[in-house]
Amino acid sequence: MNPLLTAAQNAAEPLGTKSDSIVITGGKPLKGTIAVRGAKNLATKAMVAALLGDTPSTLKDVPDISDVQVVRGLLSVYGVKVTDGARGELHFDTSKVESAHFADIDAHAGASRIPILFCGPLLHRLGEARIPDLGGCRIGDRPIDFHLDALRQFGATVDKSYEGIHLTAPDGLHGAEIALPYPSVGATEQVLLTAVLAKGTTELKNAAIEPEIMDLIAILQKMGAIISVEPNRVILIEGVDRLDGYTHRALFDRNEVASWASAALVTHGDIFVEGAKQAEMMTFLNVFRKVGGAFDIQENGIRFWHPGGNLKPVTIETDVHPGFMTDWQQPLIVALTQAHGVSIVHETVYENRLGFTEALNEMGAQIVVHPSGLPDHPRRVARRDFEQAAVITGPTKLHGANIRVPDLRGGFSHLIAALSAEGQSVISNMGIIDRGYEHIIDKLDALGADFVYEG
Ligand code: EPU
Repeated sequence: MNPLLTAAQNAAEPLGTKSDSIVITGGKPLKGTIAVRGAKNLATKAMVAALLGDTPSTLKDVPDISDVQVVRGLLSVYGVKVTDGARGELHFDTSKVESAHFADIDAHAGASRIPILFCGPLLHRLGEARIPDLGGCRIGDRPIDFHLDALRQFGATVDKSYEGIHLTAPDGLHGAEIALPYPSVGATEQVLLTAVLAKGTTELKNAAIEPEIMDLIAILQKMGAIISVEPNRVILIEGVDRLDGYTHRALFDRNEVASWASAALVTHGDIFVEGAKQAEMMTFLNVFRKVGGAFDIQENGIRFWHPGGNLKPVTIETDVHPGFMTDWQQPLIVALTQAHGVSIVHETVYENRLGFTEALNEMGAQIVVHPSGLPDHPRRVARRDFEQAAVITGPTKLHGANIRVPDLRGGFSHLIAALSAEGQSVISNMGIIDRGYEHIIDKLDALGADFVYEG
């Protein structure tokens, strides 16, 4: 137990406290083919959606990552029978959904933020829901006020106690007019998962419209929901009396694709990412090309490589979809340490997502983080109060270092920095990377990385 961390952060620790270090000898280009499967940020939500169905559901292409295991554990606590099918298929039998105690929920929920999304489905099925302290990556405060405000608007009563949050809706939930203060991915999912079975119509304004949300809407439509996506971030949901299960193949993991693309650039490599698709990657591909990366879109995936020549600096802002995703900036920043000139990355989604650059500086990078952004810098759109900016001056030679993985995306960046660096690095706490990158060790092996894994 680390007294400097919150309960949720401590709960997240065990994943990364096994003896899970990797010793990397850098300097070898990553070359070969790897496959991506369903998106962490869709599959976990689709698993929760299964709770809404009166009949069984099947999700295909579920990635073998620890965040999926967490949600699987939680579903079993609520009486959902989850069974494995062939190659990444999960079946959900929801015929015996039952209430659970805080202690059991807590035991399974530790490292994830997904439990908050169980609220609507559990309120519909059981009239109550219990939510423990939430985990997830340490990238800011990550409050849940939008979620709780929306649930109150649907008619839920929210009681907070030392154990967590207890929600009740003895008279059922009704449709609502909800305007989110910010197009939050999680809060939009919360509204969707609650509104589909609420009595009446829900109008959601300022909704997130990420491809993972569109895929969740597709799943809910398969189940019998009536949802229309209107212009200007408005989503209308007409509540229905019941929903069936679904059969669905999860959308591919865009964040993993962007990560491997950056890995190819950083290591002067050549990686074919099977399962990657162009439409959902367009914003990333534009930036990748401007930096000097090459890609080739094929039927069954996208090939990314370093075509030689100098990488070029860029200025980017992370944003909600269709902007440049916050989860893409960390691996790209490693590539920008090799660009000739000064790059600027504004992080506008989370208030604390540039801390991972400290380790890159220890490896030889020249990155200055401005914790309150760069006020005088011309901005495309005025943002919320908090933003950070990283100013990256390149190119700088990277050398090996000992690094403890701080969070999922930051950890991947450290990994690829080590793979490109001169000399040896020891990266510990690799378990955090298992939260979102499937079979990372096998993939590094397939790409010819030079490492010894002490897992
Ligand atoms: N926010 C609030 N109040 C709320 C909810 C969000 O202030 O009630 C703020 C957050 O603190 C943050 C911003 O709104 O500053 C955006 O948060 P959002 O709700 O959109 O994020 P999320 O749903 O918690 C998901 C992904 C993240 C991804 C973001 C943005 C999952 C499980 N997580 O988080 O993925 O970065 O959307 O696209 O879907 C990752 O995969 O590594 C990851 C962190």
